[in-house]
Amino acid sequence: MKIPCYICGLGSYVPSHSVTNGDMEKLVQTSDEWIVSRTGIRERHFLAEGEQVSDAGAAAARAALEDARLSPDAVTHVFVATCTPEYLSPSTACVIAGKLGLPSSSGRGAAVMCLDFNAACTGFVYGLELARSVLQGSPEAVVLLIAAEALSRRMNFADRSTCVLFGDAAGAVALRSCPEGGLWEVRDVTCASDGSLCELIKIGGGTARSVAEGDVLGPDFFISMQGQAVFRHAVRSMTEESQHILERNGLGVDDVELFIPHQANLRIIQAVGERLGLEPAKVFVNLANYGNTSAATLPLAMCDARKEGVLRPGMKVLLTSFGGGMTWGSVLLT
Ligand code: ACO
Repeated sequence: MKIPCYICGLGSYVPSHSVTNGDMEKLVQTSDEWIVSRTGIRERHFLAEGEQVSDAGAAAARAALEDARLSPDAVTHVFVATCTPEYLSPSTACVIAGKLGLPSSSGRGAAVMCLDFNAACTGFVYGLELARSVLQGSPEAVVLLIAAEALSRRMNFADRSTCVLFGDAAGAVALRSCPEGGLWEVRDVTCASDGSLCELIKIGGGTARSVAEGDVLGPDFFISMQGQAVFRHAVRSMTEESQHILERNGLGVDDVELFIPHQANLRIIQAVGERLGLEPAKVFVNLANYGNTSAATLPLAMCDARKEGVLRPGMKVLLTSFGGGMTWGSVLLT
């Protein structure tokens, strides 16, 4: 029997430190006009000095649990989608669980599974598939899926074509198999990748190269990207993956009540919307305020769309994303 998976709570966190395009003009040779016309981005937010990606993730997680009216004690699994973890080890999931007070002394002892995974900007989509699989085997589980990113910590301010694109944020959802209190059912998820394209987007700081004390950091420590190749792949993969998930669920594009794509670039979003034949009013966009926050864009957009009243419980929603790896995928919520 297929066990259902419901999103029963939603939360997000955006650091208060805002960096406008005007601020970027003071850091690199760029202009508000170039950034807005090429990307649609006007502002992004950076973690404050001393503020960590786990702080952002824990804040989003608390908001999602409050929305779900669940105590942290109820959580059995903490999954964190991130390509900017706080450490190589311990996992950011363990750090966040600690900040949430898990495992609690009054709860179920140490029976909380904590796991980080990296599907870059597709992390939230991959995470929903992970959550569905866990609930299939353990229907009583309460999964906290957090997407949290600190991209400002790996920005190369000598590379104006990438440093203007990204921001920091976190989003989270609580997932259960019981329909009571469910906002949306995660009806279907598709996940895809092509590792032969792994050179197109990279974030350094891993073990690819040994480091010794006093070494000067090179460009390989930061985000690097072949922008135009990524752009073409993003448009094609998000369009095809959206069509694929609709087809396999017997739905047409007119059945979609709201389309929330990965928020990387307004031109990519518009191209995908046009290729799918979606009315612009059904395409949700909020990247002007945040830039590309990688795995966090989808839950953050869901939160904003709900606040604006355009996303309501039970609506048929299509999510899609793409990112480094390359990875891509789509989600159907009902
Ligand atoms: N300000 C001013 N000029 C700039 C800037 C800037 N910030 N950046 C680049 N330029 C200049 C270039 O130097 C170039 O000048 P030239 O013609 O004199 O050589 C010119 O603008 C055009 O540069 P292109 O790179 O060709 O610009 P393009 O139109 O391709 O836009 C962009 C670049 C915005 C990066 C685009 O390629 C893009 O959005 N790609 C997709 C990126 C993306 O979505 N990444 C998300 C995935 S990230 C992840 O998964 C973690």
